[in-house]
Amino acid sequence: MTFALYSQRRAALAAQLGPKGIAILPTAPEQQRNRDADFLFRHDSYFYYLTGFTEPRAWLVITGDGKSTLFCAPKDLEREIWDGYRLGPEAAPAQLGVDAAFSVTELDAQMSGLLDGRDAIWYPFATHKGLESRVDGWLGSLRARVRYGTLCPEQQRDLCGPLDEMRLVKDPYEQATMRRAAQISAGAHIRAMQLSARMLRGGQEVREYHLDAELLHEFRRHGSQYPAYGSIVAAGANACVLHYRADTAPVRDGELVLIDAGCELDGYASDITRTFPANGKFSGPQRALYELVLASQEAAIAVTKTGARFTDPHEASVKVLAQGLLDLGLLDANKVGTLQDVIEKRAYFQFYMHRTGHWLGMDVHDCGGYIEPSEVGTVSERKDPLSGEVIKNRPSRILRAGMVLTIEPGLYVRPADGVPAQFHNIGIRIEDDAIVTDSGCELISRGVPVQADEIEALMRE
Ligand code: GLY
Ligand code: MN
Ligand code: MN
Repeated sequence: MTFALYSQRRAALAAQLGPKGIAILPTAPEQQRNRDADFLFRHDSYFYYLTGFTEPRAWLVITGDGKSTLFCAPKDLEREIWDGYRLGPEAAPAQLGVDAAFSVTELDAQMSGLLDGRDAIWYPFATHKGLESRVDGWLGSLRARVRYGTLCPEQQRDLCGPLDEMRLVKDPYEQATMRRAAQISAGAHIRAMQLSARMLRGGQEVREYHLDAELLHEFRRHGSQYPAYGSIVAAGANACVLHYRADTAPVRDGELVLIDAGCELDGYASDITRTFPANGKFSGPQRALYELVLASQEAAIAVTKTGARFTDPHEASVKVLAQGLLDLGLLDANKVGTLQDVIEKRAYFQFYMHRTGHWLGMDVHDCGGYIEPSEVGTVSERKDPLSGEVIKNRPSRILRAGMVLTIEPGLYVRPADGVPAQFHNIGIRIEDDAIVTDSGCELISRGVPVQADEIEALMRE
């Protein structure tokens, strides 16, 4: 892609800083793993959104007049022999479309000149360790010279505010990248399902890491840089641990496997969950719960469209799940009452304890407010029926075309008194990625089937 899109985003941000505002944004820090080994570097998402630049040790400065300055690692042939190519400040303006570029070693020296005469300094609050004290240092040295006529910014503003709003609605380029990421991840889920059935049919021992390796292979084979988050490959009862990670547990004939995995492609995440029978055939109780979760997902999908609230899909899912829990005897109506009681008292929480979705974008739990900005002042209070805590309710975000969210209901049945034994230790989640459209939503992750019969069919192949 040309740099035009990034220039447009910088211009759109500059217009929100005020004519005398200045924004300062570092990329992510490099992080040591142990001794001489670093964690694989991953750029900061805000920084990438405005530059498309993936090198470490870089800063972006944007001023209210629309000018942008990049500070980046200087060319250094000796270091480049060890660490790889650097763009360098000389090539950066032509390559990235910034107005000026300097070595990052000049950042402190240049900052006084950049800050002098500005009225507001914008930087991301509480996201980059040590950034606040760095800003304090720059402001302090500017203030030390006020007797010589420098003018220090009087306002500090959170840069996440305007950037979160911009990132919440994905442009066509972002949507296309997210479609490709979801397509790759869907293919990886199919391969993992098929491998499980094939190995069990062949009498081989299957471990969670076999399926994890299959996912990774498919991600990388299609050019994904890395998984968008630690893949969950949870066999049997492990599926009831919400943040379980792929480990060494055996994948047993007769049990379900829950895989929550998605690749990151060119800076954009995908996030898919499928739950399938390890051997390719659902048992009766497994299928009953699976169909219930799927029906709840379909109810959520049906209400995901422009003009709906972010919480509408969750409420639609909960209604279907709660009724199903009563119908299947997981909740006893004599104890918990009617459907309305189950919802109001959150009795379903024993089996469904998370929300039905989140924003998806550069970050798997993407930025963006969940409260409708035009209604922040509308606050009501309610008492949480389980914890007794008083919770402030503000109107949930109204969905707009181009927003991207996950739709991921689930049920997690831990053994407990009164819970029919046939459902014990079953954990099911079904998660798809949806782009909100005017008429509904586009599910970009359905390259992997979701109907129980279709999953069984592809696992026979
Ligand atoms: N994979 C993280 C999530 O589903 O939210
Ligand atoms: Mn998710
Ligand atoms: Mn997920």
